[in-house]
Amino acid sequence: MHSFVRFFAVLIICSLAFSQTIMAKEIVIKFSHVTTEKTPKGKAAKYLQELVAQRLKGKVRIDVYPNSQLYNDKEVLKALLLGDVQMAAPSLSKFGKYTKKWGLFDLPFLFADNKAVACFTNGPKGQALLDAASTKGLKGLGYWLNGMKQLSANKPLITPSDAKGEKFRIMSSDVLEAQFKAVDANPQKMAFSEVYNALSTGVIDGQENTWSNIRTKKFFEVQTDFTESNHGVLEYVLVTSTEFWNSLPKDIQTELSAIIKEVTLKETQWALEAAQADKEYIIASGRTKIHTLTNEQAAQWASAMKPVWKQFEANVGKDNIAAVRKCSE
Ligand code: LMR
Repeated sequence: MHSFVRFFAVLIICSLAFSQTIMAKEIVIKFSHVTTEKTPKGKAAKYLQELVAQRLKGKVRIDVYPNSQLYNDKEVLKALLLGDVQMAAPSLSKFGKYTKKWGLFDLPFLFADNKAVACFTNGPKGQALLDAASTKGLKGLGYWLNGMKQLSANKPLITPSDAKGEKFRIMSSDVLEAQFKAVDANPQKMAFSEVYNALSTGVIDGQENTWSNIRTKKFFEVQTDFTESNHGVLEYVLVTSTEFWNSLPKDIQTELSAIIKEVTLKETQWALEAAQADKEYIIASGRTKIHTLTNEQAAQWASAMKPVWKQFEANVGKDNIAAVRKCSE
């Protein structure tokens, strides 16, 4: 009898020790992204890593893989769903296979500026939209800003007719495809990591991106002309898989969410600073020309591209378009 009790006591002690070992095991979050570490997203990923190292020491660790080192645009979402990485912050333009709703962020001349983006994403409609890909297993944890996009080519793009026939690299978005078709240009979907080479070898003629990406990926060295068009926004979603998120203990979810809120505020600040500083850097480099549009020229681009709104209204939600317009007033 005694040895029977002893056997069970040992069994219980062993299983407690075993479960404690499991609980104590550090959770590793692989965070993969495509920009350099100097961008707002690159800095925010590192800051997230730092805060997690301080506040969830021994419980959670974040390993950051920048610069398409681990996965490029398309692959990262598949990798998230397979559990090969646990976090990413792709542009909302790259989720067309998972939700059509985020196409809202690609509508040309919809968001007046970065303030309008913040107003919408922090508001009730923007917050509700974070869940748009949850039925596909992707959980939006927050929005991260990059900024307003600018156009470039190896010729001045002053009126919409200047874009006619030009091959522009776009992110994998049907809305962006329609935007360039609206000005009779030739859009080409391409991964971010391939753009510099495609521009320098002439596989494409032009591109659209933010001052931050144009500077850090040196696009300004291989394009003769930039137009400060501010025609669209580049906005990210910090995303994980629903399965991974639900597997985290509640206290870790709560602490991570608090850290993400803090990082998101900093990220926005870095994005706003980069929009100004990177533009100035490019101007000072003297490597390319930067054209500023008159109000009349800007209005021509807007009226050529705006029919795209109607085309995608059903996908992105008329109510969401209205909410962004309100934020843009
Ligand atoms: C692009 O593909 O141009 C951007 O989405 C890259 C990025 O992550 O900023």
